Amino acid sequence: MMIKKPANNWQQIWEPSIDQHQVGLWLYQTTQAANALCGNKGLKLHYPLKVALQQGKKGILTFGGAFSNHLAASAIACQQHQLLSIGLVRTDQLDTENPTLKHCLASGMQLVPISRTDYRLRSNPAWLAQLQQQYPDFLIVPEGGSSMLGVQGVSELDLTKTPHGNSQFIVTATGSGGTLAGLALGNPDAQVLGIAVVKDLSLPARITQWCPQTNNWQLITGYTGKGYGRFDAQLLEFCLDFKQRHQITLEPIYTGKAMSALYQLIAQGAFPKGSSISFFHTGGLQGLAGLRYRGSLTEADYQILAAQG
Ligand SMILES: Cc1ncc(COP(=O)(O)O)c(C=O)c1O
Repeated sequence: MMIKKPANNWQQIWEPSIDQHQVGLWLYQTTQAANALCGNKGLKLHYPLKVALQQGKKGILTFGGAFSNHLAASAIACQQHQLLSIGLVRTDQLDTENPTLKHCLASGMQLVPISRTDYRLRSNPAWLAQLQQQYPDFLIVPEGGSSMLGVQGVSELDLTKTPHGNSQFIVTATGSGGTLAGLALGNPDAQVLGIAVVKDLSLPARITQWCPQTNNWQLITGYTGKGYGRFDAQLLEFCLDFKQRHQITLEPIYTGKAMSALYQLIAQGAFPKGSSISFFHTGGLQGLAGLRYRGSLTEADYQILAAQG
């Protein structure tokens, strides 16, 4: 098998099954290092951090589940910028042995548990206004970092310039939608496909609100499986196999689900012959330790996936 590993952030994903369909597949990683800020995280947090500093805020307040990549990234980003961070965690009780929450605490984040019922209010303007009153010195960043500021950061990433020329398609995992909107805005000559990893009927409207003038994006909803955070043995096998073949770690919640969907789309002939596809590796590798902690990954599988490329 031929693997081209350029010194930059691109790696060609070559497989006979892809070649057979006469498309080129390129994976883009912001960094090979598996830190919590890699992938889309640093991009989505860039402007919120800037605004918090400009407005003289003490820090950032944001939301997430107990294993949230976004919470982990926000904690570390704030620490790096000498800002405080508060994470509202969707849980009845904080489990400080959970690796994600442990990391957040070690990075100085103050964690506040909130019930599932309250968490549902996270986009409710009245609830947010009340929260802002309670924490006037903190910039409130929505779940997943998806807001106009987050979208702006992602839109600065040009994913069409592969080492082998321009790509016509960009593929990314989609959770809260900001990454898809940002890529669509920043790459107007490409078609951007978001593979939904969550069942959320409100997503298309939310994405439209961030990029109302663009129609170069599509949300693909057929590969979510049983829902957010759920994966089957086949998907895990795909991630393990991908690691062995390409020395790139995918996790089964976001990037693995999206890449597996992309392989299926390629196999169905969904892309015209001769076209080039860029896949955005959005990070999320900090979540692997959480999957092992929950017993969703065996120690052996964790060791394979977590090993450096
Ligand atoms: C690893 C990873 N990939 C993809 C996404 C999806 O990005 P978005 O929420 O902007 O759709 C997330 C969530 O932020 C994520 O953690």
